[in-house]
Amino acid sequence: MPNRILVLYGSYRSDRLGIRLADFIVSGLKARGEDAELIDAKAVGLPMLDRMYKEYPPGSAPQPMQALADKIRAADAFVFVTGEYNWGMQPGLKNLTDHFLEEWFWRPAAIASYSAGRLAGARSGLLWHGTLSEMGMVVISSTITAGPIAQTLDAEGHPIGEAGKSLARGFPRFADDLLWWTEAAKSQRARKPPPY
Ligand SMILES: Cc1cc2nc3c(=O)[nH]c(=O)nc-3n(C[C@H](O)[C@H](O)[C@H](O)COP(=O)(O)O)c2cc1C
Repeated sequence: MPNRILVLYGSYRSDRLGIRLADFIVSGLKARGEDAELIDAKAVGLPMLDRMYKEYPPGSAPQPMQALADKIRAADAFVFVTGEYNWGMQPGLKNLTDHFLEEWFWRPAAIASYSAGRLAGARSGLLWHGTLSEMGMVVISSTITAGPIAQTLDAEGHPIGEAGKSLARGFPRFADDLLWWTEAAKSQRARKPPPY
């Protein structure tokens, strides 16, 4: 049975490039038979955080927030695709993530970073590691990086050049690691329902 994996991406820029890496990961997971879905924060369109999802009385959260809460709760794993703005996180993805807390618990998360430079967003990847741990996810150790993004993936998310070859070579191990933890967490949740 395929695992349900959400691939989350959060740039709001008109000329954004990180969508290439998000598309590459969704396609790669689907090619392995997984049920992967892109969650594009810009398309979801949550406002700047006012009330968290759990602060709304049951049944009264705005529809996009409710729909996303349902998807997060139903997911078996997450991939966070992170770019880097001034050595930090992209605010769109952080804002989406902060709307939820318990909804994320008890599942593994993987980090994929990218940037216009050779460091491929490694500094924002490091920041996300702590944040996702705080939010109750088990962060896997494998990562993938794409940098410079425009010389790694074309507009359709297909690998190009030497950097693209390197990304494609690294993907199977990244996916193997994520799926191992996904199945481990899934069977543990079935054996022993989470305490909260
Ligand atoms: C406000 C801003 C700050 C940036 N800061 C960094 C940075 O600190 N490190 C880096 O490698 N690239 C940085 N860049 C370049 C981004 O890596 C590049 O624009 C990338 O494509 C951004 O992701 P996006 O296209 O998905 O929005 C920055 C870009 C912007 C717009």
